Amino acid sequence: MRLLAIETSCDETSAAVIVDGCVLSNVVSSQVKIHAEYGGVVPELATREHMKNIQPVIQEALSQASCSVSDLSAIAATRGPGLPPALMVGWKAAQAFAYAINRPLIGTNHVVAHLYSAWFSGAPIKNNLKDFEPNISLIVSGGHTIIAKVKKPLDHVILGQTQDDAAGECFDKTAKLLGLGYPGGPNIDRLAKDGNPESFHFARPMLNKTNDDFSFSGLKTSVRYFLEKNPALLSDNKSIPDLCSGIQSAIVEVLLKKTLRAAKRERVGCITVSGGVACNSLLRSEFCRACKDNDIRLFISPQEMCTDNAAMIGLLAEVMISQGNPPSVLEDDISPNWTIN
Ligand code: KG4
Ligand code: ZN
Repeated sequence: MRLLAIETSCDETSAAVIVDGCVLSNVVSSQVKIHAEYGGVVPELATREHMKNIQPVIQEALSQASCSVSDLSAIAATRGPGLPPALMVGWKAAQAFAYAINRPLIGTNHVVAHLYSAWFSGAPIKNNLKDFEPNISLIVSGGHTIIAKVKKPLDHVILGQTQDDAAGECFDKTAKLLGLGYPGGPNIDRLAKDGNPESFHFARPMLNKTNDDFSFSGLKTSVRYFLEKNPALLSDNKSIPDLCSGIQSAIVEVLLKKTLRAAKRERVGCITVSGGVACNSLLRSEFCRACKDNDIRLFISPQEMCTDNAAMIGLLAEVMISQGNPPSVLEDDISPNWTIN
């Protein structure tokens, strides 16, 4: 199977070529610099950038893989969830390719692709689902924070999720309060390395609740009130890393403790972590430490699979085909609010 995959659900235009579970190319054109000026993703600008970049990105992916369009056996693209006009660009391109070369079109779910990206690793990246075992999966991105139980590949059910802001959103919004650029997660991660996590203590929301849900908007609000009461901290070079470290510790502790608790309750010996926030260095080291201490196998997406990319879309599409899922109907529309259940 030789597959072209396309991803345009938010602010990355990406195309990848996948051959039999192996990534031959994965080109990502990020719009981060364009949106940084506005402190968040501007859908209109994202759409224009996708339209400008989609063709060169696809051509580059095909050329890096030494693959011509006529070699392709299927086309995969993100159908949802995501920003509707952004999704539309990649989906329409995929429909046009599939129609032109008369090959199947596979519409994939972006969040499901994040979930299984924890099993996509190596150099070159390949599908390692042969090592699969039932697990509790934490998906932490800019738009989603979900704990799911995964019984077998493509058989997953949501146990809990955020009731308001996603963890990535909390990183981005609190970074903005600290005067740091967008996206805030990587900036907080970098500055926190020089900070003391004990200097400022922020609430650990939902940690005392026995369910698997999250809530991060209260943490953001408590940081805002705290900074309103202590404005001098914002111009103190020593305090900013400490604030970053305090915020990061609160978010990571909640994610870790709730995921571990779910794994123990569900009696599974495996945890996976994926999504943009899985790039966070404290999250990676804390999950490694805790899983080792508790004798739990851990699969975290490799860094280049954490943030949005087309390779995870293509690898998921192959799994869907191998399990006999029917392809999309060519006329299918985007599905901006698609859930993972
Ligand atoms: O998965 P992703 O690329 O896009 C969505 O599907 O949302 O995730 C983007 C999110 C942003 O909120 C960004 O701040 C966060 O991932 N992120 C991080 C780090 N790198 C990216 N958060 C914390 N630490 C990081 N190193
Ligand atoms: Zn994503």
